[in-house]
Amino acid sequence: KKERTLAMIKPDAVTKVGDIIQMIYDASLIVTKAKMTKLTGKQAADFYMEHQSKSFFNNLVQFVSSGPIIVMELMGDEAVSVWRKVLGPTDSGVARKDVPASLRVQFGTDGTKNAGHGSDSLASAARELEFFFPSTTGHGPTNTA
Ligand code: CMP
Repeated sequence: KKERTLAMIKPDAVTKVGDIIQMIYDASLIVTKAKMTKLTGKQAADFYMEHQSKSFFNNLVQFVSSGPIIVMELMGDEAVSVWRKVLGPTDSGVARKDVPASLRVQFGTDGTKNAGHGSDSLASAARELEFFFPSTTGHGPTNTA
C-alpha cells in the first residue's frame, strides 16, 4: 500500500545527507518534499510532545534543536515501516551488533544522538508531515503585490 512518512535527519547526520538519500532510493522510496531547518527548543518539545513524560525528553529536545536538521516527505510502498527498517533500532549503540548496515549504526552514536527519525504509524506520519509541511493555506509567504 502506497504511504507517505516523515523522515528527519538529525543534527549529527546532516553532513551525511547524500549517503542517506541514496539509502532512501535503495529502499525503493522517493523524496517528495524536503527542507533544511532549525527548530527552537519550544518547536522541538512540540514535535516530541508524546514523549514529554519520559526521562530522556530534555536530552532529546536539547539535541534535536542543537543544529540544523533536514526533514523529508518520503513516499512508497509501506513507506512508514520501510523507512523505520532503514533507520534500524532506536539506540545507535545497541543497533551496532544487531543491524550493522542500518542508518543509525552508520551515522549515529547512542540513544539520543541517533542520526534520524521516522514516523511510527500512519497517524503519526500525518501529524508530523503537517508539522513540517503544513497544507493549510495562510502559513507560507503571502504575495501582496
Ligand atoms: P526518534 O525516532 O526521534 O523518536 C523518539 C526519540 O526519543 C528517539 O528517536 C530517541 O532519539 C529518543 N529516545 C528514545 N528512547 C531513548 C532513551 N532511552 N534514551 C535517550 N533517548 C531516547
